[in-house]
Amino acid sequence: MLVIHVVGARPNFMKFAPVWRALSARPRVRQFVVHTGQHYDANMSDVFFQQLEIDAPDVNLQVGSGSHAEQTSEIIRRFEPVLLQHKPDLVLVYGDVNSTVAAALVCAKLLIPVGHVEAGLRSFDRTMPEEINRLLTDQLADLLFTPSADGNRNLAREGVCETKVHLVGNVMIDTLVRMLAAARNSIPADLPPRYVLVTLHRPANVDDLAWLGQMLRVLGDVGESAPVLFPVHPRTRKRLAEAGIQPAGSRVRILDPLPYISFLGLQTRAAVVITDSGGIQEETTYLRVPCLTVRENTERPITVEIGTNHLVGRDPERVRAAAIAILAGEAKQGDIPPLWDGHAAERIGTVIAGSAGG
Ligand code: UD1
Repeated sequence: MLVIHVVGARPNFMKFAPVWRALSARPRVRQFVVHTGQHYDANMSDVFFQQLEIDAPDVNLQVGSGSHAEQTSEIIRRFEPVLLQHKPDLVLVYGDVNSTVAAALVCAKLLIPVGHVEAGLRSFDRTMPEEINRLLTDQLADLLFTPSADGNRNLAREGVCETKVHLVGNVMIDTLVRMLAAARNSIPADLPPRYVLVTLHRPANVDDLAWLGQMLRVLGDVGESAPVLFPVHPRTRKRLAEAGIQPAGSRVRILDPLPYISFLGLQTRAAVVITDSGGIQEETTYLRVPCLTVRENTERPITVEIGTNHLVGRDPERVRAAAIAILAGEAKQGDIPPLWDGHAAERIGTVIAGSAGG
């Protein structure tokens, strides 16, 4: 059988890598990788393929940036001929980015089965573009691979037939488990013994320049207790420049986006991680590192219920109080969710091989 994987943005690559590897071990499966080009800077894309030891994509659609409508429609337009040419038996899409929903829609119209890896997550906040992408992709998918049981419950509520849904665990954790030793070895010798790690990139946060300025001031204050390391997404860097915001004091170090292994290495030893990312909520839970999520909701409630994640909202003062409390030793203990064990992609491989009759 021929499986086409569609990836496009940074958080796709670590989810796709273990599935590609698991399917590579199955002699009856042929694979073809399409990169939409949603992310194109070398440090947002190429470096992940190198570090995760996956072959370069077979095709790059080079859609680049644009409004949601422009980006999504370009992916749809450029992906259709690839499907018509290769006629795959299954297309796999990952996560909740624009590339995910665009590819799923093309498949549905051409009656090509589509599998969604990381199905069923819901923030119940339709102002988030990712929530729209999740809802639509799950309605279109023929195979839905969920990372946790809340995903199955959400899909059942939306009327998705349960025979399509497979609780397999978290593929992002597969990659973490595989790369953990390399990540620990990558930690620079001159890293401070105690530090705070920060990522902020969501438009709802960083496009609000007054909020961004306030957050930087709070990070400067937190930096009095422990140095703050802040690798910035290209969007955030632009906004900081537009607003003329300087990091508050030398205790906040602004860095370029980091490769997967370096960033994972920094997470393993952080005293606390402050983020608005989805995947980092999961990685910190697995690593049992305290995480403050600077959002009003999360599509990954299990990281709050049983992991080390705290949902602090968009209130910089709450971020300050929570970070200082954790630095003073008040961190909650967390557990690792079921099936976040490094073998989710193998379970996906078993389901796919079964669906192809062997
Ligand atoms: C996308 C995902 C988001 C994910 C994030 C991870 C959607 C709707 N959003 O958001 O869920 O958390 O990726 O990074 O798909 N840019 C560059 N170089 C690049 C890529 C982007 O400079 O290689 C800049 C461009 O100015 C671009 C902006 O970043 O306009 C945003 O990129 P885009 O792909 O639209 O969304 P992200 O914010 O990265």
